[in-house]
Amino acid sequence: MGGSIVLIGFMGAGKSTVGRLLADRLGFTFVDTDRIAEDLADGRSVAEIWRAEGEEGFRAFEQQAIQRAVTEPGRVIATGGGAILTAANRKRLRDAGAIVHLRVDADEVRRRVKRSAGRPLLAGRSRAEADELLEERERHYMRSADLTIDTTGRSPDEVVDQIIEGLR
Ligand code: S3P
Repeated sequence: MGGSIVLIGFMGAGKSTVGRLLADRLGFTFVDTDRIAEDLADGRSVAEIWRAEGEEGFRAFEQQAIQRAVTEPGRVIATGGGAILTAANRKRLRDAGAIVHLRVDADEVRRRVKRSAGRPLLAGRSRAEADELLEERERHYMRSADLTIDTTGRSPDEVVDQIIEGLR
């Protein structure tokens, strides 16, 4: 399909906030795969799906959500932090357009993700465990990305400027 911009990165990287602004600036349509997954699950939240059906259940909704997200060109697609973990998702997202990784460091994640209730993957994890997950995930994001933007200490508008500049 091509022609879209896919935002990947860890929880708290700002994919949804930056994605909305970027879509406005470019006149693209904004979609968020977590929200599509919630629609597909009859309006249940990510945390509710996770509670009822476990991570596996959520990942199945996420995969369907990604399939839906890539059906039209000219979109900014914000993904959940685990979206690029499977080869099928990676291929679909890559075919949809440019993959932009929003990088964030551990301190900034802690500042931005104040409540872990809506983020089942962080709930119950110690600080060291969350840091380890971030480190492991960053390797995946780096490998999948066409462009990496460091968001630490930057406002969402500044990040949007960097993305537009970087994709030019
Ligand atoms: C997840 C990130 C979440 C959501 C789910 C799993 C992950 O999305 O998809 O809780 O595996 O990193 P955000 O990155 O938008 O918080």
